Amino acid sequence: MFSQLPTPTLDPILSLSVAYRNDPRPEKVDLGIGVYKNSAGETPVMRAVSQAQDVVVATQTTKSYVGLAGCEEFNQSMIDLLLSGTSAMDRVAAIQTPGASGALRMLGDLMKIAQPNTTVWISNPSYVNHKPVMEAAGLKVKYYSYFSADTKQVDQEKMLSDLSHAGKDDVVLLHGCCHNPTGADINFDAWQQITSLAQKNGFTPFVDIAYQGFGEGLEEDAKGLRFMANNVEEILITTSCSKNFGLYRERTGAAIVVGQSQEHVNNAKGKLLTLARSTYTMPPDHGAALVKTILKDQQLTRVWKQELSEMQQRLLNLRKSLCDELRNSHNTSQFNFIESHKGMFTVLGFSPEQMSRLRDEYGIYGVGDGRINIAGLTEKDIPYVADAIVKVS
Ligand SMILES: Cc1ncc(COP(=O)(O)O)c(C=O)c1O
Repeated sequence: MFSQLPTPTLDPILSLSVAYRNDPRPEKVDLGIGVYKNSAGETPVMRAVSQAQDVVVATQTTKSYVGLAGCEEFNQSMIDLLLSGTSAMDRVAAIQTPGASGALRMLGDLMKIAQPNTTVWISNPSYVNHKPVMEAAGLKVKYYSYFSADTKQVDQEKMLSDLSHAGKDDVVLLHGCCHNPTGADINFDAWQQITSLAQKNGFTPFVDIAYQGFGEGLEEDAKGLRFMANNVEEILITTSCSKNFGLYRERTGAAIVVGQSQEHVNNAKGKLLTLARSTYTMPPDHGAALVKTILKDQQLTRVWKQELSEMQQRLLNLRKSLCDELRNSHNTSQFNFIESHKGMFTVLGFSPEQMSRLRDEYGIYGVGDGRINIAGLTEKDIPYVADAIVKVS
């Protein structure tokens, strides 16, 4: 049977990492894969995670199964981080999933069962896996306008105009904060206007929030979602602990549903559990056990929040240093938008050819769609990278 299969094509982002590793140039800079890096270029185990690991190892007495929904204390803490203080708190349910990726697929499968004719509207551009996952779940996918190539900001007018055509069989997928790949976030006014459209035209918002705490802070990054949760009956939410807890390889995330009533979301959760059963049965436990340990201990929570805010600050500082360098050494304000973007990513507005030049001539590895990971920079790389950006632009 295998002889019928085509030769696989490599994932474009993962194959970049391989090319970077094999590049012998000492000045090379990896701005490709979306992981946070510190000033030493490392993706460290966060301090609170390390301490929680000691607690888990010392206190865990069994490796027996946990359950289809994973750890319920973890699920509640994900709900609290995102929705606390909203009227959605008594009409919400969650399951633990293998990362936000697992959550995206579980909610895709749920939509296919609950509303088979669903079209999922995703931003143009969006996280590379949004379209494949929704299509793998059997759903139709449509794009809405999002990013202006001229301003490098959200084109709010065009976005709202497109979304005004979304109706009751439609689901509108939004990035909760730190838009991947562009770095350009919708503002609070846009959250309010999309909420009004959802109320008026009946589409269901779906908020994928994979970077809470990386943009403006834990609370601020949830502000748009919370407004929506107070004003819309049904919302689908996916969240990830890969970035804000640094638990990438532990595959820790959650799928959350907000509905008209607790009875409705309990039914949705029941369906999610049968879907999980036939897919992976139970999510891996270790990451969720660490997050639960951190969030139920005030001291560990403080340590975690402190480090998360240092990471957020580092991203802001790098954005500012890069823009300062471009302004001061190259006399250009053309890239000032980098400072207004949020989170790890920025789309430079370069063509695939320009991104290839950055890679081939300078050893600077960004993604072909123009995305660079700001966290991949170190202070010492900034003059070199600024110079290359100007030469290639
Ligand atoms: C917008 C978005 N959603 C979901 C994910 C998936 O994250 P996870 O590692 O939790 O599966 C990512 C990861 O890059 C992302 O950027």
